[in-house]
Amino acid sequence: MTDYRKRTRAVHAGTRRSQYGEVSEAIFMTQGFVYDSAKAAEQRFVKIEGDEFIYARYGNPTVAMFEDRLASLEGAEAAFACASGMAAVNGALTSMLKAGDHVVSSRALFGSCLYILEEILPRYGVEVSFVDGKNIDEWKAAIRPDTAAVFFESVSNPALEVVDIAAVAELAHAVGAKVVCDNVFATPVYSDAIAQGADVVVYSATKHIDGQGRALGGVILGTEEHIRGVVEPYMKHTGGSLSPFSAWMMLKGLETIELRVKAQTQSAQRIAEALSQEGKLAKVLYPGLPAHPQHDLAMRQMGAGGTVVVFDAGSREAAFAILNALDIVIISNNLGDAKSIATHPASTTHQRLPEAQKAALGITPGLIRLSVGLEDAEDLVEDLSRAIANL
Ligand SMILES: Cc1ncc(COP(=O)(O)O)c(C=O)c1O
Repeated sequence: MTDYRKRTRAVHAGTRRSQYGEVSEAIFMTQGFVYDSAKAAEQRFVKIEGDEFIYARYGNPTVAMFEDRLASLEGAEAAFACASGMAAVNGALTSMLKAGDHVVSSRALFGSCLYILEEILPRYGVEVSFVDGKNIDEWKAAIRPDTAAVFFESVSNPALEVVDIAAVAELAHAVGAKVVCDNVFATPVYSDAIAQGADVVVYSATKHIDGQGRALGGVILGTEEHIRGVVEPYMKHTGGSLSPFSAWMMLKGLETIELRVKAQTQSAQRIAEALSQEGKLAKVLYPGLPAHPQHDLAMRQMGAGGTVVVFDAGSREAAFAILNALDIVIISNNLGDAKSIATHPASTTHQRLPEAQKAALGITPGLIRLSVGLEDAEDLVEDLSRAIANL
C-alpha cells in the first residue's frame, strides 16, 4: 500500500478480511477473543504474535484496521486509537512524561489541551513553559537541555496561528526532546508532519476523520518503537481505547476524507474571500488568504488553508446577532463536519479562560469560528452575507 497515493491508501490500507471475504470492513463487536487451549492463552499473554488479540482495551481487529489505515495515510509506522481526541492528547503526553520533566508548549491551544498543559501536568510534577507558538525565538529561549517534549497545535484552535513544525522540531531534536503535534486543523489530508519533524502526531478523529458528526475518537501516531513501547502500555492499562463500533465509523470516514476535506477547503477559501469584502467585519482570518500573517508558512507546510475560517464581528452582541440570524450554518462546537458549524469561542470552548488570557490568545468577544461543511459554497456565502447585513 505504501507505493500508492494517499487517496488510494485512504480506501484500502489496513483492510483485514474474515473468512467471508466481505467488501465493507467487518465490525468485530467483541471485547474478548477465544483461545484454542489454556496453553495458547498463556502464550498470547507472554507475546502477541502477528494479528492476534487479547482484549479490546489492548486491541481489536476493527480498531487495528482503522489504526493501520490512518498510519498509512500519515506516513507513520504505527498508531494507537483512543476514545476521543482528548484521550489521545492526554495519552500522548502522559505516557512519555514523568515528574521532574520539562515541557515547552505553544500558548494558543484548544481549551481542554490547555487544561492538560496548564493544570494536569504541573499537578504531577511536570514543569511547563508556554511560548507564543508563532515566534521561533521564544521556542529557542524556552527549550532547555532537560526539555523532554514540546507540544503545539500545528494550526491553533480557534485563532488559526500556524506553528513552523520543521523549525520547532530542529530546536527540540537538538536537545533530544520529542515533538508532539496536535494536527487536527491540518487534517491527515494536508499533513506532512512526520516528514517535517514531528515525532508524535495526534488527531481528534471526532473532526474530519469521522466528518459526519457521529462519534468521538482520537489517535496517536508515531514510530513502532514509541507506540508499542510507550503509548500502548499506558493506553491499554488506563482504559482510553476506542470502541470497535466507533473505529468502524472512522474507518469508513477515512474512505472519503480526501474528497470531503478538499471540497470543504475550496468552500472555505471562497467564503474567506467573500467575508474579506464585508465592510462590517473587524477581521477575517484564514491561512489560505495572502493577508493571513503566516500565509506563506501555511502554504509551505500544508499547501492549503484548511476547512476553518475565523472572523471578528466586533463585539459579543454582533457575534451573537450573526449566529442567531444564520439559516444553514448551525450553532454548535464541533468542526470538520459535513454540516457548517459556527462557534463563539469566548462564551463556549474557551469560556473558562480569564479575560486577559482570552485577549492574549486572540479570542476577542466578537470572534466567530466557522467550520465549513459540504453544503454549496454559494448558499453558505449568501447565508453569511444575509446574517452580517442584519447587523
Ligand atoms: C485542536 C484540538 N485538539 C483536540 C481536541 C479534542 O478532541 P475531542 O473532542 O475528540 O476529545 C479538539 C476538539 O475540539 C481540538 O480542536
